[in-house]
Order: sequence, then C-alpha cells, then structure tokens
Amino acid sequence: MKVLPVVLAGGSGSRLWPLSRKSRPKQFLPLVSGQSMLQETLSRLNGLAMLQPIVICNDEHRFMVAEQLREIDLQAHILLEPVGRNTAPAIALAALYATQSLKEPVTLLVLAADHAIQNVAAFQEAIMLAATEAEQQKLVTFGILPTYAATGYGYIKAESINSASAARAVEGFVEKPDLPTAQAFMQTGEYFWNSGMFAFQASVFLQELETYRPDIHQACVNAIATAGSDLDFIRIDAQAFSDCPSESIDYAVMEKTRHASMVPLDAGWSDVGNWAALRELKSKDAQGNDCHGDVWLQDCENNSVYANQRMVAAVGVKDLIIVETEDAILVADQAHCEAIKTLVNRLSDAG
Ligand code: GDD
Ligand code: MG
Repeated sequence: MKVLPVVLAGGSGSRLWPLSRKSRPKQFLPLVSGQSMLQETLSRLNGLAMLQPIVICNDEHRFMVAEQLREIDLQAHILLEPVGRNTAPAIALAALYATQSLKEPVTLLVLAADHAIQNVAAFQEAIMLAATEAEQQKLVTFGILPTYAATGYGYIKAESINSASAARAVEGFVEKPDLPTAQAFMQTGEYFWNSGMFAFQASVFLQELETYRPDIHQACVNAIATAGSDLDFIRIDAQAFSDCPSESIDYAVMEKTRHASMVPLDAGWSDVGNWAALRELKSKDAQGNDCHGDVWLQDCENNSVYANQRMVAAVGVKDLIIVETEDAILVADQAHCEAIKTLVNRLSDAG
C-alpha cells in the first residue's frame, strides 16, 4: 500500500520564545541546521518511495510554508486550518482529504514538523517496519526509550518481547501523566515515550476516531465537504471548522484504541521541546557554553547564548539561557525553562 506523509505544522512552539513567535513558530525556524525544522522533516524522507506529502498548518503561515517547500524543491498539498483545533482534527482532515483525492486505500505517515532526528537511516528503517505494521490494520506509534520521568510526553506500555527492534502490541497508552505516575512508569522499566509520530491506514484512523470521538469525526467530515482550493492551497472553511472540538490524537484515539502497536525508535530523536533540549543538540566550547552570533563571555560556564541583532556579553554566569532578539530578551535558568510557556501565556493575555 502506498504511504503518504502528513506533516503537522500548526503548533505554537511557545517554550522556545522569543525566537519562536506566533508569526514564525519553531517549526519554521532553522534551529538545528541550516534548514527549518519543517524542511528537515521532509528532507529526512528523501530516498523513500512515498506519495506527495500533505502539510497541514494555520492559514496565517501559508506563504512561509509554500516558500520553504520551494526552497527544497518539494511539491506538497498544503491544507490550511482557519484555527488550530489540535492534532486529532488536523490528522482527520488530512485523512479525509487523502481518501477523497486518491480513491484508493492509503497508509498515512504522520510526522510532527518540529522534531530533530540524528540517525536518518535508523529512522527510515523504523518507518518501513511501521508501514508494514499499518497494513495489518494497526495504529502504529514510534516508541522512544525514556531517560527521565517527563510529564510532557505520552507513555506507551508495550508487550515485552525478546527483540529490540520488532513491532510490539501496545498494552496501554497514557498521555502526559502527572509526575508521580511518570515516576512509577519509569520504575517499572516497561514504558516507552510516545514520539508523536504515527503510521496507520487513513480508513483505520477514521474508523477509530468515529468510534471514540464521533463529534470530531463529524465536524471534520463537514469541514472537508466545504473545503475550497486556490493556487497550491486547500482551505478549510472557517464556519464549518469552528464547531470542531479541540483535542490531540493522543487523548482522542491513542489512549482508547485497542489496535495500537509500537515500533521502537532508537535514532537520536528529540522533540526540541524547550531551550534545554535544543542545547543538548548543540556542540559546546571547553566551558560548556554554546554561543550563536556576536557573543562575548568571561568566566562563564554551561550557558546557551543567542545574539540575533546585537552583541551579547556576560560575566561570571552559569547554567543560563540568554536569547536576544530585535524586540525581546530572555534570561532564564536552564532548570526552569519549561516555565517559559507559562510566561508566554501571561504575555499574550496581557496583549
Ligand atoms: N496542523 C496542526 N494543527 N498541527 C498542530 C496543531 C494544530 O492544531 N497542534 C499541534 N500541531 C503540530 C505541532 O506543530 C507539532 O508538530 C505536532 O502537531 C505535535 O503537537 P504538540 O503540541 O507539539 O504535541 P506535544 O508535544 O504536546 O505532544 C505530542 O508529542 C509528544 C512528543 O513530542 C504527543 O503525541 C505526546 O504523546 C508525545 O510524547
Ligand atoms: Mg511537541
């Protein structure tokens, strides 16, 4: 069965403020290499035989997405959401659009637009295995060996088997547990993190969504029925989509389905979720600092410093994230960088 990549590019990436902004969120920035995260996501599939991808994003970012695709010489269907309703509706719209336009069964490879993967060959191998699993009517997740009791990830309890790389049945899926639960999961040694990428047949996903969230399914069916297209874009009608509930695939389907399976992924995966995670991907100088732009440090250790418009100088500080941009400067303790999301929410509430 043919495989069609679906790239989810509608998130806000607020924990990487002030580089990541509403007008240009994380997935459109060249954070890890010279390419944007979106471009890296698509380039990572080079060499695999796949159908033309669908990129689904907010209407506001359509020209940036089109331009970034042109830069890497890639044709894609660009599906535009008038408002973000999280990943379950986004994937449903892509699944419905693919079913309607292809008129033959198709496997979707759902990818986040904002992840880093170091070992592309290992990643591609996992994709091939996941595509085979998906043909068995499974909803396939990619499982990452967890390293700490994170509360920002989904946790997968997979069947225990002797092979490190084979696909396994999923026995339980818990999205973003609280800290004591995450700690208990870690102690058992039986859980993987959900990478946030999936492979399944469009029809299998739509069936499960209809079973567990008929409201989301119906809203997306209505929205696709009234979708229009102009230039390279497929536009979802604002009126039709405004009634759609907001929910992630993880809560809407993955926690509930009995047909999930997991392919282990050992490929240097990171969701680059915050400044500390980005720092792990960067090379550091002898004092453990990673500096970008016009940065001058004296007696400083283990800092990440980004100077975009002006020179940044620091003396005698350690374990900080310092980010200078044209209109905002962030100074944060690395241990607190998750809280940047809360700060950004306060800033946008304040207008
Ligand atoms: N088109 C579209 N529309 N894309 C969206 C929307 C939306 O409304 N909301 C989020 N996305 C995109 C984001 O840009 C990102 O690429 C992807 O969907 C996942 O969304 P996140 O908001 O980043 O999800 P998360 O990180 O909280 O959680 C997911 O990923 C974790 C791993 O990084 C879950 O799948 C977790 O279970 C998983 O552990
Ligand atoms: Mg994420």
